[in-house]
Amino acid sequence: GNNNKMDFIPRYIIEMGSESVKVVVRSRPLNDREKALQSKMVLSMDLERCQCFIEKPGAADEPPKQFTFDGTYFTDHTTEQMYNEIAYPLVEGVTEGYNGTIFAYGQTGSGKSFTMQGTPVPASQRGVIPRAFEHIFETIQCTENTKFLVRASYLEIYNEEIRDLLGSEIKNKLELKEHPERGVYVRDLSMHTVHSVGECEGILEQGWRNRAVGYTLMNKDSSRSHSIFTIHLEICSTGLLVTHRNGISGRNNRLYRFHLTRKVNFNF
Ligand SMILES: Nc1ncnc2c1ncn2[C@@H]1O[C@H](COP(=O)(O)OP(=O)(O)OP(=O)(O)O)[C@@H](O)[C@H]1O
Ligand SMILES: [Mg+2]
Repeated sequence: GNNNKMDFIPRYIIEMGSESVKVVVRSRPLNDREKALQSKMVLSMDLERCQCFIEKPGAADEPPKQFTFDGTYFTDHTTEQMYNEIAYPLVEGVTEGYNGTIFAYGQTGSGKSFTMQGTPVPASQRGVIPRAFEHIFETIQCTENTKFLVRASYLEIYNEEIRDLLGSEIKNKLELKEHPERGVYVRDLSMHTVHSVGECEGILEQGWRNRAVGYTLMNKDSSRSHSIFTIHLEICSTGLLVTHRNGISGRNNRLYRFHLTRKVNFNF
């Protein structure tokens, strides 16, 4: 029906936990093919209200179809703006002990890889994944009494088969497994320790070269597969807890520790 963001995305994504799911829309500029065909932009947005409108070409008198989202990004918006408003709080949550997922959904050529992986130039269009790394490393630098281990994995799902884009044997098919405590995981998926944003960019580049790519009418660099890039974060805290107890002079010094493993998934 009208005005319903749920028309746009698979139901299972919504049902994963409706309270904590945000749905935003991003529109890219017309590409060369669309311009050559003299295609008309049929989409407009009310950014204040987070609404978008789609008009039926050649039926100007019909009211446009209307959809409402949690955020709307038009052709001139940058990945930087999207990151700050949408991804930043999610990645911040991961450093505080929550898991998170950013799922890019859309037809071929719509801009999923552009948004997630991005281009180094201009800087405002650097992707969500390198920005998340930068963000995590900044947080690590400002946090005392805590050790962090940052690792990355990158897989693709193509024709129902899972492959490790960073593995030594890219052709090997990996198996999806379920563990009673760890949940669903991919057996033998390689993990790569990352120390800097530069290393992250190297890993993205390496994985990208290994993706099943091909040509579609809408995208000459089409990914042809679904992929999941994951940042795994191990947080280990050791500190001295200092408490003053009423009526008792002196201090009570107690060593406390915690160890967390959290992850943020980027699906595109
Ligand atoms: N917001 C944008 N501004 C400018 N160019 C864009 C934008 N979004 C996408 N593009 C360009 O459009 C083309 C297609 O984008 P992209 O490769 O990200 O599509 P995709 O959704 O990953 O498609 P596929 O499913 O085929 O892999 C690319 O050349 C990309 O640079
Ligand atoms: Mg792609």
